[in-house]
Amino acid sequence: MPLTWAVNNTVLVLRLWKPVIGCRVDATAFIAHDCRKSNAHGPAPSATPGSVVLPASSPQRLTVHTSPSPFHLVTMTTPTTSTSSSRPYHVIIFGASGFTGQFVVEEVARTSAEGPKGTLKWAVAGRSRQKLEKVLEQAAATLSKPELKSEVDIIVADVSEPDSLAAMCKQGVIVLNCVGPYRFYGENVVKACVENGAHCIDICGEPQFLEGMQLNYHNQAAEKGVYIVGSCGFDSVPADMGVLYTRDQFKGAALILFHLHGSCIHDGTWQSAIYGFADSDKLKSLRKKFGHGPLPVVGAKIKRRGTLFFSTEIDQYAVPFMGSDPSVVKRTQRYLHEENQDTPVQYAAYAGVGGVSSVIKLLFGAMLFWIMVKFSFGRSLLMKFPEFFSFGVFSKAGPTRKQMEESSFCFTFFGEGYTEDPSQGKPNAKIRTQVKGPEAGYVATPIAMVQAAFTILHEVKSLPKTGGVYTPGAAFVKTTLIDRLNKHGIQFSVSSSEA
Ligand SMILES: NC(=O)c1ccc[n+]([C@@H]2O[C@H](COP(=O)([O-])OP(=O)(O)OC[C@H]3O[C@@H](n4cnc5c(N)ncnc54)[C@H](OP(=O)(O)O)[C@@H]3O)[C@@H](O)[C@H]2O)c1
Repeated sequence: MPLTWAVNNTVLVLRLWKPVIGCRVDATAFIAHDCRKSNAHGPAPSATPGSVVLPASSPQRLTVHTSPSPFHLVTMTTPTTSTSSSRPYHVIIFGASGFTGQFVVEEVARTSAEGPKGTLKWAVAGRSRQKLEKVLEQAAATLSKPELKSEVDIIVADVSEPDSLAAMCKQGVIVLNCVGPYRFYGENVVKACVENGAHCIDICGEPQFLEGMQLNYHNQAAEKGVYIVGSCGFDSVPADMGVLYTRDQFKGAALILFHLHGSCIHDGTWQSAIYGFADSDKLKSLRKKFGHGPLPVVGAKIKRRGTLFFSTEIDQYAVPFMGSDPSVVKRTQRYLHEENQDTPVQYAAYAGVGGVSSVIKLLFGAMLFWIMVKFSFGRSLLMKFPEFFSFGVFSKAGPTRKQMEESSFCFTFFGEGYTEDPSQGKPNAKIRTQVKGPEAGYVATPIAMVQAAFTILHEVKSLPKTGGVYTPGAAFVKTTLIDRLNKHGIQFSVSSSEA
């Protein structure tokens, strides 16, 4: 029995209906996200400890048994054929020299004991050996792990040199791709991963790239048994997994309200945003190519809020959220409906922006940005002066470690639903859940990305039946990713519920 979410009188509501101990629940969820200055799911792990499941042509899978370094014996675990091959690394961090890449390196180094048999075999990759050496030196000093300098291998690979990408992908079970903007650099990496049998995880926040990869590579990835999982950073793991977490409390769905302040973001993300907005028309035509019909609505249709409204839930003005979370969550809901016949969550995302003075600043900034982004001269000015045009949110230097320590995020999801017939009367159940974590871009993002990788390494049998291009929610809905994130400081919790 499906569960339906709808809109309540005050804010935004999600409807869902699904079997809940013989009754229907129709729930409304409202998710507030707050990035502040200052400060179960699914089956158990399935891979044998100490072994790594590699992509293989569906339905076969490969398992890597760790053997004395650096090579692993790879054997098929399915009955038909057996083969062997060698993959030196469980994980390769591509773009390790980037601002975000360096923090992914540190996160992998911190958590390597969570790898198969307690040891993760990993390497860093990028186009400059010198820069990669520097990153390892810095990580060794920061983490007091001098062995990183000698034990972690370096792979030189350049996006514009397909042979170097192929050689890199052949050596790894999973590529953690930190090279962005993805619209320029991402496709070659996806292609190389699919062709060379490496799973790929990225931290992209660009819907056009993410949806384009799904359109163009899903079938090939499925044939190869390769999992390409995009947006595994702050965009969009907290939103996508948070919606599923909230839905599962009601066996239902969620809606997002989102607000950010106090955090500083590196120029790499600013560039991705500039090109994303400049190209927004292309996203519309890309979406037409999927030929998707509307998803079914059970119960009352969600009521869309205006372009600017005062939210009593977070006591500030809010606007529709323009980032990639809505695109990712909606793709997840479509996948879960089409594959598992789940009733889709009705969903919308809003960002809290503060009081009247912040609204004026935002409107002025947004208008200026929108005009400038449409012209190449405007775009080059935006690129040159990120701090000025983003009121200090984005900077070429990125946040300092101290700023990161002082930042955190919190999403609050407000849900309402039904315990009986979802199409009748006002919702009679409410829930509020939260996803909280450390600084979004360079602490939470590496945690989410690295835990997504461990989930693939340890729980491949809980992933979708075939490989393909997936959202985090679609890939990990049946895994223990939420538990893993909880253990690493990205916490999912129910803060209140009433029926
Ligand atoms: N999901 C999230 O919440 C989240 C959070 C943070 C970042 N991101 C995304 O992550 C991406 C990277 O951001 P960033 O701030 O780390 O950017 P960045 O500092 O500019 O790093 C870009 C990386 O790409 C590498 N690169 C560029 N061209 C290359 C090529 N042809 N071949 C191989 N490597 C190449 C760079 O190598 P060199 O060092 O040699 O130049 C560098 O390692 C952006 O798309 C950003 O939006 C997402």
